[in-house]
Amino acid sequence: MGLPFTHLTSTKQLSRSDTDAIVGVAQDMEGILKKGGCDLLRGKILGSLFYEPSTRTRLSFESAMQRLGGDIVTADGIQFSSLYKGESIEDTIVVASQYCDIIAMRHPEVGSADRAAAVSLVPFINAGDGPGQHPTQALLDLFTIQKECGKIDGLKVAMVGDLRFGRTVHSLSFLLGLYDKITLVFVSPKELTMPEKVITFCKEKGIAFSEERALDAALTADVLYMTRIQEERFTDHSEYERLKSVYTLKAAHLKGKRTVIMHPLPRVTEIATDVDALPNAAYFRQVRNGVPVRMALLAMLLGKL
Ligand code: CP
Repeated sequence: MGLPFTHLTSTKQLSRSDTDAIVGVAQDMEGILKKGGCDLLRGKILGSLFYEPSTRTRLSFESAMQRLGGDIVTADGIQFSSLYKGESIEDTIVVASQYCDIIAMRHPEVGSADRAAAVSLVPFINAGDGPGQHPTQALLDLFTIQKECGKIDGLKVAMVGDLRFGRTVHSLSFLLGLYDKITLVFVSPKELTMPEKVITFCKEKGIAFSEERALDAALTADVLYMTRIQEERFTDHSEYERLKSVYTLKAAHLKGKRTVIMHPLPRVTEIATDVDALPNAAYFRQVRNGVPVRMALLAMLLGKL
């Protein structure tokens, strides 16, 4: 089966047949998880390099590797690595390649993943490069939409919040562009609109989309994908303070609606906790889907499937 590339840095590299294959393998991995795991990657080591904070991506990559019988080596935080002493990303990756069979890296700089992939001696996965891309999150989002809605073609998907700095919505928009009759609704304050690269992509692909300011515009969608205002990306903190609470989704907004509510998490104030009990609040199920999807990617990129 495999994948027609060695490294995964962007969802723009993926075709519809790639996403179909990954979703199919992830479904099989759910069966393996129910049985407690397997030995498919016994003897293989994942280099888990996280130079920016993470809970879900790091833990789910490491869990995925161990569920497949593999091991991990980790680096956590620039200040605790030799990047702090001035070592380049390129040297770091060549060195890490000597210790492991596959690498997942998160780094605060846009483009760091492409720099790493250009020199990596083993398969490399972008686990988030600043406000750039987060392809494995988008794949687990796609898997979640398929599971929650039973299909992807023909859906209306609204993305709400910090669309400028939110790398997950960039990656997910490119992926949804592979599907038929998708409608995208981008809801953000004017300071945090979707970047030109995504808008241009939608125009070139003929995807129906609109840019909105009010949360109400998102409430008729099949999927409502909320995002956090990304404090760490602002250079002017007063601007963050002004925008941080611009949208808060509450249970009252969703009365009588079956809209599937997603969020890459962590959330701050953009989804009130009274939404959590609704059957259509899918964000904690979404978290769980990170493990089978990352198991699928690890196995496929290591040439085991
Ligand atoms: N969704 C996501 O990337 O979460 P973490 O930052 O906790 O990895």
